[in-house]
Amino acid sequence: MKLAFGCDHGGFPAKNELIEFLIEKGYEVIDCGTFSDESCDYPDYAEKVCKLVTEKECEKGILICGTGIGMSIVANKISGIRCAHVTDEFSAEMTRRHNDTNVIALGARITSTENIIKLVDIFLNTPFDGGRHAIRVEKINSFDK
Ligand code: RB5
Repeated sequence: MKLAFGCDHGGFPAKNELIEFLIEKGYEVIDCGTFSDESCDYPDYAEKVCKLVTEKECEKGILICGTGIGMSIVANKISGIRCAHVTDEFSAEMTRRHNDTNVIALGARITSTENIIKLVDIFLNTPFDGGRHAIRVEKINSFDK
């Protein structure tokens, strides 16, 4: 699976360890930056990652900022993206099973790198349940421009 990754300076501390984990697991990762802990604007990185997902260059996107909230707000404004801001394992699983989310947003200032890796792993390995949830996801998609 090909993944798009993006973070700002708030998410930067979790970046290297997460990408190393993903590569070790056999994923191909397109790193959209940022590439240092210098202050930057998270919408720029969310946009790059989401574009790779909507253009089907990547199957899923991973976004990390300080809280994960700013990244998720941006991602959910982009047509074709369903992004979940995740802080716990149950939500990481359920957002795939019920919402068929294609992007996950996490916060490196509220979630340890170890837990970020755990949550991303669950997100990437949980399939969509379909069925009644497919009807609901279609309704979500109907809001897309
Ligand atoms: C950057 O200071 C911080 O605002 C950003 O990383 C993120 O938490 C925004 O939601």
